[in-house]
Amino acid sequence: MLAERKKLIQSLFDEYIEMYASRDQRLAARFSQNFSGYAGSSDQLITDTDEWIKVTLLDFEQIPQRIEIEMLDLSLQDLSDDVVSATAFFHIHLPVPESFLARETARLVLIFRREDGNWMITHSGISIPFGLAERGEVYPMQRLNERNSELEALIEERTHELKIAIDELAQSHEQLLQSEKLASIGLLAAGVAHEINNPIGYVTSNLGTLNAYTRLLLDIAVELESWIGAGAPQGEALFALKQRLDDAELDYLSNDLDSLIKESRDGLERVRKIVADLKSFARLDGTELQLADINVGLDTTLNIVSNELKQKAKVVCNLGKLPQVRCNPGKINQIFMHLLLNAAQSISQFGTITITTKHQSDWVTIAVSDTGVGIPDKNIKRIFDPFFTTKPVGKGTGLGLSISWGIACDHGGRIEVDSTPGVGSTFTLYLPISGPDVAPGEALKDSRQ
Ligand SMILES: Nc1ncnc2c1ncn2[C@@H]1O[C@H](COP(=O)(O)OP(=O)(O)O)[C@@H](O)[C@H]1O
Ligand SMILES: [Mg+2]
Repeated sequence: MLAERKKLIQSLFDEYIEMYASRDQRLAARFSQNFSGYAGSSDQLITDTDEWIKVTLLDFEQIPQRIEIEMLDLSLQDLSDDVVSATAFFHIHLPVPESFLARETARLVLIFRREDGNWMITHSGISIPFGLAERGEVYPMQRLNERNSELEALIEERTHELKIAIDELAQSHEQLLQSEKLASIGLLAAGVAHEINNPIGYVTSNLGTLNAYTRLLLDIAVELESWIGAGAPQGEALFALKQRLDDAELDYLSNDLDSLIKESRDGLERVRKIVADLKSFARLDGTELQLADINVGLDTTLNIVSNELKQKAKVVCNLGKLPQVRCNPGKINQIFMHLLLNAAQSISQFGTITITTKHQSDWVTIAVSDTGVGIPDKNIKRIFDPFFTTKPVGKGTGLGLSISWGIACDHGGRIEVDSTPGVGSTFTLYLPISGPDVAPGEALKDSRQ
């Protein structure tokens, strides 16, 4: 009985294949055969929920000989006679053979039994989107559209999440730079306060002395005034007046007055200069480029950090003749500050910091050398990494060199390091004279302050 049915179906297929082979593709082959009860099931038949149709996919061109599809439990109302539109109802859920994965189209051949008991065979070309095919699923158009919108919504959601993450990242980077700036400002403020306190201390003390001197001189002047009209003093009064003038040591007073005033002037000038340097140094923000004298910038920065340096090192300057460099001087000063502070901090007792500037064709180089502890090989690759520090908490943030590196890059330049543990280190900043191609900060606006 079973063999008989199989034979029938086989012949049905043979006929179908013949039709198909005769290129009558447009018209789906349709048969109404009055046989019933094909109970054999192929390995590939699957059962799923009610809505699902048991089907088998057949690559018609490759394996036309076998009946691969059986469709059961299908109500005919759902399936129009028009094969193409009928296909749209199918939701095929099958492990798709490997050979299909690389193809866009496969043949779907269906045999099903009508409600009236007749059997029907039909075929259609179907598309197997690759991704879905791998999962063994083929969706009808409608489902694909739904899936598309789902994916679009998902992408939109992910994009949004990504944007928020990027914003947060930019924000924390900004905060980081801010905190490094604050840390540097804190350090500088202490140094600058000390620098200013010193001249203010002796100017104040000089004012006290000047006050005493003028008191003395004024007292004598008042007495002399009292003699006007009364006639020149005689005898004992004259002697007493002479004694007071002797005590006042007018020669000494005159010299000392001059030097006190000069010293105080110098001190106040020093305060003025520190304040001016601080102002020019503090102009760190802004992205404007200008032609600047690098040696002057170094001098300004040295003044600002002098308090930190003088306790640790003698500073030797070999400043070459430099052309003006197109740069953002405030930011370049910031690099100098970091290099100088690092140099001072690397020296354990007392050493030497040597600053050398040179003009080399299209570049200027600024080298800061120290006689400090040096950098071990294992660290040298990491020193420019943000947060890499070998200093105790509170002393190092690990951001100085990474910020400096960023500024150098923004200027189209670079920083090179050469270090021998136990001997010292040299950091060399290379800056192109013509400056960056774009304004610094524009190129990397999002990542640099
Ligand atoms: N001149 C130097 N001599 C020795 N080590 C240095 C020198 N400059 C930088 N380093 C090393 O690089 C690390 C990172 O420097 P930096 O980014 O300025 O951060 P920080 O100074 O806050 O540690 C330092 O902790 C130190 O280990
Ligand atoms: Mg540092």
